[in-house]
Amino acid sequence: MKTRLALFVSIASATLAMVIVVTVGITLWQSQSPQKTVRSIATATGVKIGGPFVLTNHNGQEVTEAAFSGSYMLIYFGYSFCPDVCPTELQNIAVAMDELGKHAERVTPVFITVDPARDTVAFIKDYVEAFHPKMVGLTGPQENIDKAARSYRVFYAKVDDASSTEYLMDHTSYVYLMGPDGKFVTMFGANTPPEEIAAAVVQDIKERS
Ligand code: NI
Repeated sequence: MKTRLALFVSIASATLAMVIVVTVGITLWQSQSPQKTVRSIATATGVKIGGPFVLTNHNGQEVTEAAFSGSYMLIYFGYSFCPDVCPTELQNIAVAMDELGKHAERVTPVFITVDPARDTVAFIKDYVEAFHPKMVGLTGPQENIDKAARSYRVFYAKVDDASSTEYLMDHTSYVYLMGPDGKFVTMFGANTPPEEIAAAVVQDIKERS
């Protein structure tokens, strides 16, 4: 009996110890900010997000990533015919810009279309201006869009609908925060509250100063 009791006690304490380790681990993991987690995952896996591009802005000028050098960018890939997700995310970016107050001077919101066939210069001009006066719309030849999207790990595909002349696009929906050095800072999933986006920008500004 004594050995059984001893065995029970040692199994019970081992189990308890494991539960404590796992609980503490999960608590520590959850207490990290999600942005920090995303950043460290990107760093740890060596996945490079972002890169050079040659696109046309909503005023018809050819621009590269160099045009945004020195400014933070909040980049979103989508398309202006998108019925729901894109307008919501662009609105969130616009609200984040307002939340930023004076810091907004240092940030450029950027909308890059994945549907250049319909998102012409004139079209995206009206579209971005409806969201925020500082928002820059970018379009361009399909191959340039493809290259930019690839560097941001953005996937998209036309959804064919035989019953309609219009079409939808499936696409990944992330907001990317790029630093004033043009390098990836963090990214936000769909429906991230604008306050959280603004807070991440402010945090990074503080870290760099
Ligand atoms: Ni969309």
